[in-house]
Amino acid sequence: MEHYFTNNEDLESKIKEINYNILDKKFTFYTDLGVFSKDKVDYGTDLLLRTYLNNHNESFKVLDVGCGYGVIGLVIESITNSKVDMIDINKRSVHLSKMNIKKFGSNNNVFYSDAYSEVNDTYDIVITNPPIRVGNDKLLEILIDAKKHLNEKGELWYVIRKDQGGLTIMKKLESIYNIEIKEKKKGYIIFVAKNK
Ligand SMILES: C[S@@+](CC[C@H](N)C(=O)[O-])C[C@H]1O[C@@H](n2cnc3c(N)ncnc32)[C@H](O)[C@@H]1O
Repeated sequence: MEHYFTNNEDLESKIKEINYNILDKKFTFYTDLGVFSKDKVDYGTDLLLRTYLNNHNESFKVLDVGCGYGVIGLVIESITNSKVDMIDINKRSVHLSKMNIKKFGSNNNVFYSDAYSEVNDTYDIVITNPPIRVGNDKLLEILIDAKKHLNEKGELWYVIRKDQGGLTIMKKLESIYNIEIKEKKKGYIIFVAKNK
């Protein structure tokens, strides 16, 4: 079975546009077969964005990890005027994010990276709706190694559902971060992790 995080060059392409409204702003994104949540913005992504934007309107330096077609990075740039780097392992996602960056006239930068393999910078915010189906080791790598890319007062924002082990993962991360639950809805939990 093909997953949205695999790079299958033979996968048929059917690019289309989807709409998304947040904080009275309307966005339209290109999506395609083989990428996460291609028909509508995911509930967890939406809750993560709304919770983040309730807490932050500052113009930060932000890293969107596992950006998909770019919804998190592009909405944060548009609403807070932040400078956002976006990364994904899936080449089709990187391509769609490039198309959306162009469509938005955005200054964001998107590039291929397996977790942080191609990331050299540090950020005020690392934000992610992380890949769950890649397995616990890669998921933990993405969340733990974010620390190396956070400024001293930086924050890691992420969403994981309770039934996907959100609270168990929180316990595993508590030895390296101070973690706060910022929001809980419909089984989705929004976490913020800060340097100890
Ligand atoms: C749950 S999706 C979120 C996509 C997008 N941010 C959104 O909210 O719609 C997770 C993303 O992580 C990407 N991903 C999977 N493994 C990865 C890895 N090792 N490094 C970077 N990105 C990865 C997937 O391709 C996918 O786009």
